[in-house]
Amino acid sequence: MLSSHLLICLIWWSHFVFIVQGDGMIEVFKWKQMDFYNRGDGRHNVEANQGHQGSSRPDRPYNSAPVVFPGKYSRLKRESFTSRDTPLGVSSRIGSNDNANAPYIPYNNVPMGATHFRGRLFVTMPRRRVGIPSTLNYIDLSRDGRERSPKLHAYPNFALNQFNESSQNLVSVYRTTVDDCQRLWFIDTGMLEYPNNRQQIRRPSIWIVDLNTDRVIKRFEIPESLVETGRGLASITIDVQPNKCGEAFAYIPDLVYRRLYVYHLSDDRIWAFEHNYFNFDPLAGDLNIGGQSFRWDDGIFSTTLGPRQPDGSRDVYFHPMASTNEFVVSSRVLQLESNAARADHGSDFRVLGGRGPSTQSTMHEYDPRTGVIFFAEIQKNGVGCWKTSKPFSVENHGTVDSNASDMIYPSDLTIDEEGTIWMMSNSMPIFIYSTLDTDVYNFRIWRQSTSKAKRGTVCE
Ligand SMILES: *[C@@H]1O[C@H](CO)[C@@H](O)[C@H](O)[C@H]1NC(C)=O
Ligand SMILES: *[C@@H]1O[C@H](CO)[C@@H](O)[C@H](O)[C@H]1NC(C)=O
Repeated sequence: MLSSHLLICLIWWSHFVFIVQGDGMIEVFKWKQMDFYNRGDGRHNVEANQGHQGSSRPDRPYNSAPVVFPGKYSRLKRESFTSRDTPLGVSSRIGSNDNANAPYIPYNNVPMGATHFRGRLFVTMPRRRVGIPSTLNYIDLSRDGRERSPKLHAYPNFALNQFNESSQNLVSVYRTTVDDCQRLWFIDTGMLEYPNNRQQIRRPSIWIVDLNTDRVIKRFEIPESLVETGRGLASITIDVQPNKCGEAFAYIPDLVYRRLYVYHLSDDRIWAFEHNYFNFDPLAGDLNIGGQSFRWDDGIFSTTLGPRQPDGSRDVYFHPMASTNEFVVSSRVLQLESNAARADHGSDFRVLGGRGPSTQSTMHEYDPRTGVIFFAEIQKNGVGCWKTSKPFSVENHGTVDSNASDMIYPSDLTIDEEGTIWMMSNSMPIFIYSTLDTDVYNFRIWRQSTSKAKRGTVCE
């Protein structure tokens, strides 16, 4: 009797131990190659199992030498590269034979961002190659939520994604965010980042789409006097109160020029901060991800907002990508345009400290329910965390999940209004420096509730 009681205790205990060791991330979708309901070839691809692309369309890159277009972007000047660059020499697997007019070249479609809002999961596809039918897309979770590799719908529609048909249309989007006023915000970089043939075909722009009507309510062109090109505009964070939607501020890091832009919606004005803390750490740029070794020099990459203080301000956390340090500045500093012009920022921008070895991070986001910031960590191929009520330290930086085979390169991490983390892993370094194996799953979307994600970590 005693032993059976013990056994029950043991079972209960092992279950308990299993849970407190952390629930990790749950795989939701995975793809070998991305596909679209509308591939732009005039046929609507509505059948769920219509088979793969027509035989005339290449689904693999050609192994031929790259075509080099002489241009002002000389590679020779640079010793290292941002996540935006495809170095000469290793770019030989790029399909230089790709037909520039092919509407859909499966291999070239690498997803980047993942943001959920009420049954729609927004997935972006930056135009870093030809053959991308639509750069802004969504997955209809009520219809396709049970598919392993759902097809994408263009958002808000297919026509707006045809960059060459109107100077108002979308060119290339990296990541999206949803604000507290049910609006989708994102940057269109205005740039076709074709290797060795980068083209800024129009001004980078800030977009706002009303998610209740799917109407574009704002397109703001960022002036050239402020931002030379849209190359470094990887993310956007919105600071707004639900009852003051017009008073929104957007914080936009520039990883290439290492600036932080602030856009104020009601004034329709934008200004730029510069600071040493926006630069990469030269000792943190050596990366080894997915079997590729390389050196990146990405500066400030993402921002996230802490809780609102009694005076209405919020801490704006930020980090460069090639860095393991975290920094913070008050929203009050950023929101005053005259501050941007100051010669000296005094101690307004502060170092929080180091997160620990191999914690280089693309995106991070604060969760108001748990008070935890979650980090997409590229060198760890996983998700990290820090509970903001604890001192910032390496010891207080936790690991939610990490998997070097299934979670290669977490490219985006967002938290929806229900408290669920959504994370994209897209194998980007393999795409840039080698060749993706189209017989294996290269792209995955993961989710987890923030309360389960922190369970069993130091962020509890
Ligand atoms: C856009 O269309 C024009 C005319 O059809 C063509 O000459 C040009 O190459 C196209 N540009 C791009 C970037 O595809
Ligand atoms: C990665 O995930 C796979 C599939 O769940 C699992 O078999 C493997 O053990 C994991 N690897 C690590 C290092 O956790």
